[in-house]
This record gives sequence, structure tokens and C-alpha cells, in this order.
Amino acid sequence: MIDFLSALYPWTKALHVISVIAWMAGLFYLPRLFVYHAEQVTPGSPTDEMFQTMERRLIRAIMNPAMVATWVFGLALVFTPGIVDWGAVWPWTKAAGVLGMTWFHHWCSRRRKDIVKGLPHRSGHEYRIMNEVPTLLMVLIVVSVIVRF
Ligand code: HEM
Repeated sequence: MIDFLSALYPWTKALHVISVIAWMAGLFYLPRLFVYHAEQVTPGSPTDEMFQTMERRLIRAIMNPAMVATWVFGLALVFTPGIVDWGAVWPWTKAAGVLGMTWFHHWCSRRRKDIVKGLPHRSGHEYRIMNEVPTLLMVLIVVSVIVRF
């Protein structure tokens, strides 16, 4: 198994980065949809229906599979011998970043379910603030794994 992971290493890393890009695209876009949904749409209107469809498809068809693939290929890289030096700092700051990113994914998923249940929206201002979370975490993660302090 270990030799198999070592042989596949370049492909595992390529598939990891591809999954990351798809996941991040959704994590940047969904809070933006929430901002306009909260500020510009009348509940129960045809536009409300359309936004709910866009949010559901984005999370189910793109973000959920991309998050799972990012974790699967990421953990395959963790178990590839010689890749992660747990004595360094970067694996820990990266781990904190990806746990934060996974929490944010679930925060968005809960907000979507609240909207479907007809519960009141969070404010557009709150969604804009939360939209900065994936950006800051992405900077921490990418600097950790590429600069490697
Ligand atoms: C979800 C759990 C994740 C795990 C377990 C994980 C783990 C890893 C590991 C072990 C590597 C290999 C490092 C090497 O080749 O030396 C790696 C590479 C990489 N990861 Fe992740 N990662 C995760 C999520 C993410 C996220 C969310 C991002 C970006 C926002 C990210 C960005 C990258 C990049 C850019 C590389 C390539 C770095 C290079 O070429 O050296 N990863 N990841």
C-alpha cells in the first residue's frame, strides 16, 4: 500500500489541488449568493425559489463532492511516506486551516437549510463578513504548505 501511494504521489497531489480549486470556488460563491438572497429577494417569490435552487445545486453537486475529494486525496498524501514532517510547524497550521475551512463549509450548509425552512436570513452584513473567512484560511493553508515554516 505504501509503495502504491509513493508511486501515485504526483497524481494524488494533482487530484488534491484540483479538488481544492472546486471546493474553494463554491466556498467563495455561496456566501455571495446569501448576501443578495438576504438583501434583494422577497421570501416566497419566484426569485427566492431560483436562489434556493442555485444554493442547493452548488452545495450538493459541487461543494460536498469537492470537499470529500479534497480530504480523501489530502489524507492519501498524509499517508504517503516522507511527505509530512510532523516535527515542523506547517503541518499543524495547515491542519488548523483545513479544519476551519470544513467548519465554514458546514456553517454555509446550515444557513442554506435555515433558508429552506423559511427561518429569517442572517443580515447581508454578516454574510459579507463571513465571506472573508475562506479567504483568510486559504492564505494560511497555502502559505503553510508552500513556504513550510
Ligand atoms: C482537507 C484536508 C487536507 C489535507 C489532509 C491536506 C494535506 C496535504 C498534504 C499532505 C499535501 C502534500 C504536501 C507535499 O506534497 O509535500 C498537500 C498539498 C497541498 N495542499 Fe492540501 N490538504 C488539505 C486541504 C487543503 C486545502 C483546503 C487547500 C487550499 C485551500 C490545500 C492546498 C494544498 C496545496 C496548494 C498543495 C500543494 C503544495 C505543493 O505543491 O507543495 N490543501 N495537502
